[in-house]
Amino acid sequence: MTTKVHILSGIELARPFQIRRLGHFGLNVESPEKSLQFYRDLLGFKVSDQIDFADRLPPELKNQVGPTVGFFTRHGTDHHSFVLFPKKAVEKVNPQYARFPQLTANQLTWQVGSLQEIVDAFSWFTDQAIPIIRSGRDLPGSNWHFYPTDPAGHINELYYGIEQIGWSGHSKALAMHDIKFQQPPNLPYHSEYAEVNRAIAHQIHIHAGWRDQSNIAETYPVDGILLARPFKIIKIGPVRLFVDDLSAAKDFYTRIMGLRLTEEIKYQGHSCYFLSSNTEHHALAIYPTALRTILGLNPSSTTFAFAMQVASYQQLRTMYHYLKDAGITIQPIPHELSPGLGHHFYAIDPDGYLVQFYWEIEQIGWDGNPRPAGLRRTFGLNPSTWPTTIESQSDSFMGEVFLGPLN
Ligand SMILES: [Fe+2]
Repeated sequence: MTTKVHILSGIELARPFQIRRLGHFGLNVESPEKSLQFYRDLLGFKVSDQIDFADRLPPELKNQVGPTVGFFTRHGTDHHSFVLFPKKAVEKVNPQYARFPQLTANQLTWQVGSLQEIVDAFSWFTDQAIPIIRSGRDLPGSNWHFYPTDPAGHINELYYGIEQIGWSGHSKALAMHDIKFQQPPNLPYHSEYAEVNRAIAHQIHIHAGWRDQSNIAETYPVDGILLARPFKIIKIGPVRLFVDDLSAAKDFYTRIMGLRLTEEIKYQGHSCYFLSSNTEHHALAIYPTALRTILGLNPSSTTFAFAMQVASYQQLRTMYHYLKDAGITIQPIPHELSPGLGHHFYAIDPDGYLVQFYWEIEQIGWDGNPRPAGLRRTFGLNPSTWPTTIESQSDSFMGEVFLGPLN
């Protein structure tokens, strides 16, 4: 462990980087195509690109792993905020899954502020002897990154510079995917604008990229706009994970990754930690595996839940009925396990993963203190019992702003 002070853009820090937010998350699923019915058709994520793992599989395994195509999806302008990858195929491609058989989360991905930070963080993680699975830059997505793992095997990613999808909804053309780095670059590196200029100079049709094909009738008025569903997901996270060694996980995510411990709770005698990357109460929560048994959740996965924020309380209530009407199972999970979240509920996805929906998350200010528990909202586990309107709180509309448009 080092106590050296690092200078990041004129600021003295314990590390040469600063995580700004959870940028994306991924799940390994039996059939990404089937999962799209839930995540794209019902929830509204748009496919921004797809990836076929077949080429990375040994020939004798190609017909034994089921689906090999995964999807990058987005809720906003980032090329992806959520990925669905084929479980059996990625387990054969990446040896991390053989080492950690309960690993079902594909990645927990954290955004930093610059390419300089990625390069310096890569060296720093290497100096700390933190395992790194790979590094460089991948297209689709265009982001510069490296993948360190936590002590329980969860694959984290730090990145800078994810491709932005604009008004036309097209991702970068496939012909622009010839850029490949398997290590951090020498700095300074030229801008993305210069890369696009070069593609144009090479006569590449830069608008020939992927565009989501779903075409569901837009029949729901949502805050003045007609949408294909009665809500809009505006943010991803927090991620909730189970770990056997809680102190090792806490040490990794605070001392190494630099997340802030916002709150610790005891649930039936078990400590649970809530960690923040910005002003939200938590972007990551870690729970002891013992709780998985108490809650009756899947004993062969360390993924507890993945949360998504919708734009308003009204949308959350409407979403509940919409999902119920679509035949989605809602699972009651005690509210104490999500301190800092306002009204919320959990649905079960096609693979049995818990997806948590909420509209309001407590915002933490300069002193780092969460709201006293006695001042928090109380609400019923069954969303049918929630009132039509509720009072606003001081931080109800605070935090990361969704840039829009709604869709
Ligand atoms: Fe990623």
